[in-house]
Amino acid sequence: MADIPIPTRAVLTPEGTVGAGARLPAIGLGTYGLRGAAGVAAVGTAIDAGFRLLDTAFNYDNEGAVGRAIIDSTVPRDELIYSTKLPGRYHGYELALQAVEESLFRSGLDRLDLVLIHWPNPSVRKYVEAWRALVEARERGLVRMIGVSNFLPEHLDRIIGDSGVVPVLNQIEVHPYHPQDEVRAANAERGILTEGWSPLGASSDLIGHDIVTGIAEAHGTSPALVLLAWSIALGVIPLPKSATAARQAANLTAFDLELGATDLDRLRRLAGTDGRRHSDPSEHEEM
Ligand SMILES: NC(=O)c1ccc[n+]([C@@H]2O[C@H](COP(=O)([O-])OP(=O)(O)OC[C@H]3O[C@@H](n4cnc5c(N)ncnc54)[C@H](OP(=O)(O)O)[C@@H]3O)[C@@H](O)[C@H]2O)c1
Repeated sequence: MADIPIPTRAVLTPEGTVGAGARLPAIGLGTYGLRGAAGVAAVGTAIDAGFRLLDTAFNYDNEGAVGRAIIDSTVPRDELIYSTKLPGRYHGYELALQAVEESLFRSGLDRLDLVLIHWPNPSVRKYVEAWRALVEARERGLVRMIGVSNFLPEHLDRIIGDSGVVPVLNQIEVHPYHPQDEVRAANAERGILTEGWSPLGASSDLIGHDIVTGIAEAHGTSPALVLLAWSIALGVIPLPKSATAARQAANLTAFDLELGATDLDRLRRLAGTDGRRHSDPSEHEEM
């Protein structure tokens, strides 16, 4: 693996109340579906390739596999970021604290690096309470940094207004079909980093779209790398999931690909009126 470049671009967390002095890698590994011994092996090859940020969730049922890969790795623990998510059914204050403790026990680690509220579940009206619990979890030393996922600007403003604590990041669906200009801009205005989920469009036809394959051909690269380079060009931390060692290593080379203004304009044309893969966070209930 020695000849595989390790990404050196890193982004600083916003200054302020959260995660002072912490740094986040500019790309992370998605781990949805990587479970059991095969999951440990897949996360292990990704760490060997150079991934340092590992994105899991209580609801992925693989916190044990991701934690085990970290424990088995020769990479120093301080260089790896274990990032998990709090499910909707645990948004009550005490329940949220217990769920964070449960994530910790499942991981087998002695601390979590990042915990996100997975979805705001606005119909349940408890995400403000859940955020207070994450602030407390950080104060108790259970986790180093806290953030959110699938939050709209109005949700961000409610938790920041209530607690005075700004999330380190907001993890949202971002790919050329759904570039999320408004939410990315709202995150940036508040000093919140944007992480992008499904950066390859997951199981959609995005990776095979003529515009994407055409740009890949022109640059002598793969459609996957075009999509990751697009996220990076937008300042988004992409979280590509791959179970395959060769693809994991290839995905890290997206930093070597610089898209031109014409490429970005062509990719811009893919944005649909509703190009999202998942539900609208203003309505979605994820328990
Ligand atoms: N916060 C949320 O609500 C939320 C929601 C969805 C996802 N996520 C996170 O985001 C991560 C990524 O999203 P995702 O898993 O939906 O989809 P994705 O990363 O957009 O796409 C994954 C698919 O792309 C394939 N792939 C990976 N690298 C490739 C390459 N170089 N060439 C060709 N194909 C490649 C993978 O296949 P192989 O595995 O076979 O290589 C897999 O089928 C998730 O794993 C999860 O951690 C978060």
